[in-house]
Amino acid sequence: MRRRDRAPQRSRRQPTASSKRRGRPARPLPLRSTHGSPHPLCTPAHKGSPALCRVGHASKNGRVAAAWRGGTPLEETTVSVPISLTVNGKAVTVNVDQRTLLVQLIREHLQLTGTHVGCDTAQCGACTVHLNGRAVKSCSMLAVQAQGAEITTIEGLATKNGELHPMQAAFRECHGLQCGFCTPGMVMSAVNLLKDKPGASEAEIREGLEGNICRCTGYHNIVRAIQHCQSGKAGAAA
Ligand code: FES
Ligand code: FES
Repeated sequence: MRRRDRAPQRSRRQPTASSKRRGRPARPLPLRSTHGSPHPLCTPAHKGSPALCRVGHASKNGRVAAAWRGGTPLEETTVSVPISLTVNGKAVTVNVDQRTLLVQLIREHLQLTGTHVGCDTAQCGACTVHLNGRAVKSCSMLAVQAQGAEITTIEGLATKNGELHPMQAAFRECHGLQCGFCTPGMVMSAVNLLKDKPGASEAEIREGLEGNICRCTGYHNIVRAIQHCQSGKAGAAA
């Protein structure tokens, strides 16, 4: 057969789009859940690496990605549970997904946004609230664990007529804040600290605040504010 009678062949140097795709690894499914804002059931360990996740993340087209290599994709299910608790002296009952964190209940369901979220991995203390009189990091527990509890947030420290708690007044008078992001958690931890140790030394105050991080690094004035509150003079000038 003469060369020109043969069926035209594609040049090996110009592969088609499908042949180009054949040898490549499949493109990963787009994930709706970004790991800057992790799924409530995800562990912090796989942050930034969705492929290590044991939880199926829903893709944009509704399918669930088998995100854990070698694992079975898990369907995401929502189980709503009623939670009754007292927040800042007010009884509340809300229905939340059982995976809801306490901080999500406080901020998103009760709209008490004075409680901040800095890390959501129990490191920065920005989410500190009082649970039955003890300071807790509300990002590190589920809302269902607070069933029946008494919660106090930063909004509940001041009196109803707007008079600041002495610790809040001390922070204001000693300039114990810069951007203010850490301040609600700092104040809640400081109140708890002086409740346990009213005469805490400077070293004990610094040690007592080790679970609270100030990204503005204004620790010196924060410690001064707590000492000012200890002196009983906070709020006297107001
Ligand atoms: S947000 Fe809870 S400790 Fe950082
Ligand atoms: S005042 Fe800015 S983080 Fe503490």
